[in-house]
Amino acid sequence: MNLVTDFAVKEKYSYHEGFGNHFRSEAVPGAVPVPNNHAQRPPLGLRTEKMSGTSLVGPRSHNLYTYMYRIESSHEHHEFTQWNHHLEYANPPTAKNLTPNAVSWPTISWPEKGDWISQRLVGSNGDPQQKTGLSIWFFNVHNDMDPRTVFSSLDGEALIVPQFGSLDITTELGKMLVRHNEIAVIPRGIRYRVTLPDGKPCRGYICELYQGHFRLPELGIIGTTGLANSYDFQIPKASFEGRVEKGSNGDQIAVANETSDWNIVSRLNTKLWRCSQPTSPFNVVGWQGTLYPYKYDLARVDTIANIRYGHADPSVFVVLTAPSFGKAPGTAVIDFACVGPRWQVAEGTYPLPWFHRNTMQEFVLGIIDDQRLDTPLNDPKADFSPFAAFLNGTMVTHGPDEKHYQDMKASDTTKPVMVQNEGLTFGLFEFECPLYLTDWAMESAKQNSKRQFSGQFAETK
Ligand SMILES: [Fe+2]
Repeated sequence: MNLVTDFAVKEKYSYHEGFGNHFRSEAVPGAVPVPNNHAQRPPLGLRTEKMSGTSLVGPRSHNLYTYMYRIESSHEHHEFTQWNHHLEYANPPTAKNLTPNAVSWPTISWPEKGDWISQRLVGSNGDPQQKTGLSIWFFNVHNDMDPRTVFSSLDGEALIVPQFGSLDITTELGKMLVRHNEIAVIPRGIRYRVTLPDGKPCRGYICELYQGHFRLPELGIIGTTGLANSYDFQIPKASFEGRVEKGSNGDQIAVANETSDWNIVSRLNTKLWRCSQPTSPFNVVGWQGTLYPYKYDLARVDTIANIRYGHADPSVFVVLTAPSFGKAPGTAVIDFACVGPRWQVAEGTYPLPWFHRNTMQEFVLGIIDDQRLDTPLNDPKADFSPFAAFLNGTMVTHGPDEKHYQDMKASDTTKPVMVQNEGLTFGLFEFECPLYLTDWAMESAKQNSKRQFSGQFAETK
């Protein structure tokens, strides 16, 4: 079992490492003033811009902020106007459908070949303007974003999970490749541009968190390491479109490579807005702080499970969580769990989860291993289809289908067995509050499906 994904698209960037650390990142040595965060005359003629991701007086363990030192301030832009694009993604309908039924998307018809911005809203709960809840989006990227165009969400922090394919993401704070089996998080307000590193399409899922930020789960009696280890998270390094040259007074100054209008596309209350600015957003020569994008290779999850008997709760698979502050201890707006390859060793124990119903609602998504083209799911005849996903109703019982129930009941549990090593990892978004679905999601879905634990999402043909 590979402990690091052998990526088909090879890494081309370098990163800082460590979830939640404070970083000082400089594309040009000395770009970040020390120790004065707001130096009267910053190095290289740069301008100071601060971005706060939390209230200013929160506890240190929750404070997120970043100082950017950039060639021009992003203050210089024209007025935002709402983007009345004819496609639904610019102005998606309100998610208003709620059902206790299990809903599945065995596949989704998506004929348009769009770019990163052409995301489709699946559902939401809470309210972005009240900073409560979240939304779920599908993406289906066939094209690079338009030149000199960036996107950001003003609604929330995006957890990006490719189902298939790879993304090359240039952010204000640096660049990162996000390939199959990696996840990425981009904080609210960070501007970024997405292209396809290998020219192949990339599709997947986004959970946009309106409330707070994603964090690592507490480890309790597990101790200091385990699950997703903090040292495996990768953070982009400062990178900018420009150069350093000698200014008129003889000092070294950073200058942009070009002066062209850029399009700033921002999502507010799920609607798209646009404005232009006369400079590249990618002009941050140095930054320091705790608010930044990051990525993580899901193959590195240090999975915890029963080694004698019984079946632990799926909370042991949680990679990232977003605590719901003010609610009962342990309540999360969302837990993101990864159920991937692992040894199953519990003797005399039924291998699959119990039949169960939860107060948390489960959105089950599939991540296909496209690094291993010999796996069954990469067989063109496989019945795994794009965008396959499941949503189980709150407090509605679900579990294995009868065939798998009987197969597992008859299985030999006296020997360890490697499971889920066939190229499919399950991701789980577990919501505190039920997800209201859009009309599009309802029309694309099939209700009352019960095939959750069969290892396949698609309906039997
Ligand atoms: Fe479940």
